[in-house]
Amino acid sequence: MTHDTSNKKILLSGIKSTGRPHIGNYFGAMKQYVDLQGNEYDSRICIVDFHSLTSIHDGEILSQYTLDLAIDFLAIGLDPKLVTIFKQSDVPELMELTWIFNCITTMPYLMRAHAFKDAEAKNKEINVGVFDYPMLMAADILIHNAEIVPVGKDQKQHVEFARDTAEKFNRIFCKTEGLSDEEAEKLNLFKLPEAYIVSDVETVPGIDGQKMSKSYNNHIPLFSEDADITRLVMSIVTDSGASLDANDPMAGIPANVFNIHKLFIGNSDLIAAGKTYLESEETLREFYKSTGGKYKPLKDALAADLIAFITPLRVRRAEIAKDTDAVRTMLAQNGAIIREKVHHLVADVRRKVGFVV
Ligand code: TYM
Repeated sequence: MTHDTSNKKILLSGIKSTGRPHIGNYFGAMKQYVDLQGNEYDSRICIVDFHSLTSIHDGEILSQYTLDLAIDFLAIGLDPKLVTIFKQSDVPELMELTWIFNCITTMPYLMRAHAFKDAEAKNKEINVGVFDYPMLMAADILIHNAEIVPVGKDQKQHVEFARDTAEKFNRIFCKTEGLSDEEAEKLNLFKLPEAYIVSDVETVPGIDGQKMSKSYNNHIPLFSEDADITRLVMSIVTDSGASLDANDPMAGIPANVFNIHKLFIGNSDLIAAGKTYLESEETLREFYKSTGGKYKPLKDALAADLIAFITPLRVRRAEIAKDTDAVRTMLAQNGAIIREKVHHLVADVRRKVGFVV
């Protein structure tokens, strides 16, 4: 990695390697990594395999998913000259920071986490890793002193937990009480991170209209084959919006199809290929209304647009996947780079908590 990252704000985000990413991951988060890469941020994108271990208990599978995700990141257009793609398990200092955060966090606080509450409501057997997940994620973000964290809405609470944890650590160990903001700023070890959430895509719906998620099995994988795309689109649950008032702009529009189609509004490649209905939400709605409530032509159009969007990604991915050794080398080198970058902060944390005698 040769790009100059000095004095730039740090952008950090991560994705679990628990299977193939879907278009909810892409539009909700991964696309933002690509859109924000460039000169403004020191961008660090992490495959959070420590987190993946909360649900994947097969070493070969986890390792394959992690490699696959690194290839996916390159295939969607992340430029390794502009973004440091690395894996979490190459930064063992995260375990140390997680432990330190555990020791200043209460159980009732972690019990408020949505992910934990959902698992509990479903009567799932919850491992300690799932319970402690937010503290590892706080460590992920804070170890970099990241200021911007692009995520979908479902991760908002986790970023807030990271902020709370930063504040708590600063208050307890940096002894800034009673000082002015300016004085405190100099002493505080951790910056307060902000979630970066794009409202139009904060919760991408799946084929049943609920949030798209692997665990709901309502997802469209990002690198799907054409036949799978068509099959999944044809199985979108349709509701004509007949219950809506005639003046409602969504009246007569099958919302589940439309809401996935909306993801492609403004896609210049598709518009250039003649899909002018994708110019705006208005034009897309007119296109939907023009079919007089028939689902089939709309689903055909959505499937064709998804295929046109996904095909080049799949082609690029196949090309990158020919040289997995190069991807492994990139991960190993970047892991070492990140360790080096976080070293100073970890040393300061160790001093503050009293591990240096
Ligand atoms: P994960 O792996 O579940 O999801 C990766 C990213 O995809 C977003 N996402 C969605 N966005 C919109 N609509 C959807 N249907 C949808 N489904 C998923 C997620 O919000 C996320 O941004 N805990 C995180 C991983 C993580 C992390 C981090 C993120 C670990 N450490 C540090 C940021 C910073 C997770 O499980 O994401």
